[in-house]
Amino acid sequence: RAGLKYFGAATDTPGQRERAPYASAYAQYDEIMWGGEFGQTTPTNGQKWLFAEPEHGTFNFTEGDIVTSKARENGMYLRCHALVWHSQLAPWVESTEWTPEELRQVIVDHITKVAGHWKGQCYAWDVLNEALNEDGTYRESVFYKVLGEEYIKLAFQTAAKVDPGAKLYYNDYNLESPSAKTEGAQRIVKLLRKERIRIDGVGLQAHLIAETPPTLDQHIDAIQGFTKLGVEVALTELDIRLQTPATAENLAMQREAYKNVVGACVQVCGCIGVTIWDFYDPFSWVPSVFPGEGAPLLWFEDFTTHPAYDGVVEALTNG
Ligand code: G3I
Repeated sequence: RAGLKYFGAATDTPGQRERAPYASAYAQYDEIMWGGEFGQTTPTNGQKWLFAEPEHGTFNFTEGDIVTSKARENGMYLRCHALVWHSQLAPWVESTEWTPEELRQVIVDHITKVAGHWKGQCYAWDVLNEALNEDGTYRESVFYKVLGEEYIKLAFQTAAKVDPGAKLYYNDYNLESPSAKTEGAQRIVKLLRKERIRIDGVGLQAHLIAETPPTLDQHIDAIQGFTKLGVEVALTELDIRLQTPATAENLAMQREAYKNVVGACVQVCGCIGVTIWDFYDPFSWVPSVFPGEGAPLLWFEDFTTHPAYDGVVEALTNG
């Protein structure tokens, strides 16, 4: 419907999962993950700097390859994640006092090797992840401290050269309703466009809260704020956490919130895809970061589906 190309789920490699509840879950998990339910995937961890270049000049694609090759075997869209990010960064990048020239080279080499390794396989690359503070100013990462705004241009320029076929995205959270941060992300798009540097999309991570979600209209406004600049939009890491234990009441709120955010994407031409950030509650990052919250995905621990699953189906069917 409209411009939607895929509905997918991110996934991790078994060795990297933080909490594996019981080994027998994997068979059922894999059946859902690779059995046709999803048309797209993203490796949740394996392509990140920490894993891909753990030491300066030493590259390791093992973890990333596990998920990317499954995507290929199953004919799924692949979103690749993430080239330049302040978090899950290899310690050597942060612990060195770089000159601007040295850090430019570090960025160029990293993108050249990592995006080069997966060249031609990624529908999209998250070239730059979470570069903004909530007020729309730039985050003081090592990259920003040494190079200022220039590192953003360099990252996109390099990615465009290395993998000309991949859509190049800026990706961040709290972009799902209009705010100072969405204006900051629009500023990044305009900055690159002004310099004739390619940026093709903005990823709205969409880590939402069932009890206090944005409205359908807020989602639509936020998405259109980007599409009117001529870039596409995707919901890249959707999950909607709730206060645990789940109740009939907050599961109903979660269903409504999923329906609205997916519905907004379906309704706006230029919103091209939705990715949930894994599909199985026990593998979600949420409880380890927000104690007392969880059950943010579409499958419960016993592999039955949330009411929100039906909310998603409704949104995909009716907008
Ligand atoms: O690599 C170790 C592994 O060796 C060890 O066995 C395992 C057990 O504790 O831990 C592993 O490291 C964990 C890593 O995920 C891989 O599972 C880290 O402790 C853990 O902090 C890390 O969390 C990831 C998080 O990013 C880090 O910020 C989550 O899985 C991942 O879902 C999450 O994803 C991010 C997106 O990339 C960007 N947007 C926000 C989103 C949620 O935080």
